[in-house]
Amino acid sequence: MRVPNNPFILSGYHSPKYFCNRKNELLWLEEQFSNERNIVLYAHRRMGKTALIKHFFYHLEKSKTASTVFVDLLGTSSMPEANKKIATAIVQKFGDFKGGIGQKMLAMISSLGATIGLDPLSGTPQVSFGLVKPTEVEKSMEAIGSFLKEIKKPVLIAIDEFQQITPYPEENSEAVFRAWTQEFPMIRFIFSGSHRQMMQTMFTDQNRPFYNSAQMLALDTIERSDYIKFIKDFFAQAKLKIKKETLEIIFEWTRMQTYYVQLVCNKLYGRGQSVTKELLMEVQQEMLNQEAPLIATYQQLLTDFQWRTLKAIAIQEMVGSPTSQEFLTKFSLGAASSVSSAMQMLLKKGFVVQENNQYTLHDTLLLRWLQQL
Ligand SMILES: Nc1ncnc2c1ncn2[C@@H]1O[C@H](COP(=O)(O)OP(=O)(O)OP(=O)(O)O)[C@@H](O)[C@H]1O
Ligand SMILES: [Mg+2]
Repeated sequence: MRVPNNPFILSGYHSPKYFCNRKNELLWLEEQFSNERNIVLYAHRRMGKTALIKHFFYHLEKSKTASTVFVDLLGTSSMPEANKKIATAIVQKFGDFKGGIGQKMLAMISSLGATIGLDPLSGTPQVSFGLVKPTEVEKSMEAIGSFLKEIKKPVLIAIDEFQQITPYPEENSEAVFRAWTQEFPMIRFIFSGSHRQMMQTMFTDQNRPFYNSAQMLALDTIERSDYIKFIKDFFAQAKLKIKKETLEIIFEWTRMQTYYVQLVCNKLYGRGQSVTKELLMEVQQEMLNQEAPLIATYQQLLTDFQWRTLKAIAIQEMVGSPTSQEFLTKFSLGAASSVSSAMQMLLKKGFVVQENNQYTLHDTLLLRWLQQL
């Protein structure tokens, strides 16, 4: 892979060099995996779940310890769609078609109802999956499992955005997935998701199929001193200076949400100058301006009152009790009951999250944007 022009990566994973810390998390993941335990990884959005999985996979593949498969369920809305994503990922991973398609692979492909054609450009075989009927999902998953079971190296499948399966129209989606993992006990799984609450209840509620079936890791922010060193070193290599105080401001402003730290640093680095407070302010403003169109669409998803409630929470940053008289009066929000139902909506739609008995906005840029209004 080529060396990136800017060391602060904004999408995906490059290599350990551009990945900060997560040493303890990596050790923990390795320990779970080497002891045949399934893993749940959850955190708020943009904290670095996907990148951490890719980082873990990088090491497993490099040391040839495991065969890794990455499936992203984002955008899927039914079991047949999830099935297709999984099947496609597996064929991509194991389908080395240069020497023809192996018997086992062929058997799996045909049982999935997929078709094999030739790529018109390269002439290599290509598999195209349609959607199986909902009634055939289990059979299809079974075929995938039977194929994977025969692979000599341990197989680790990461299913990212796993919370996505909860609202599928098939009411038994969790049960089907759970049965699948139980049927193939030698396949290891990482279930990852950005809806903390949903992931937590899915794996800790006694009445849910996945109850107590995996080891859970709540991904926290990156350790500050490590992040400071990581950032300073890249600036120094380009003969640019960035002060520790400036980094503290950045951490505060982004609340250590990894993607935003990366974005600020990427933009600052891109300016090619040593960083001053003024430059930082310019970059922050640029980020907020770029966010404006997205924020307009957010606003359309909410009623006027919900939006005002959201703004009040943003200004306060952390709110213990949004229905307290003090809060209602301070922001002229009227009746506690209206705020209470607005809060329910804001939580449900993921605008607001609850953390340590305090409410706050999920999205840091939206928070900063509302604060400057
Ligand atoms: N430890 C790290 N060091 C450097 N960059 C990182 C690190 N972790 C994540 N990033 C970067 O931060 C951004 C967000 O990370 P990632 O997409 O993994 O988050 P996520 O938790 O999966 O988010 P989402 O909930 O949106 O799926 C990416 O650009 C990624 O490259
Ligand atoms: Mg992700």
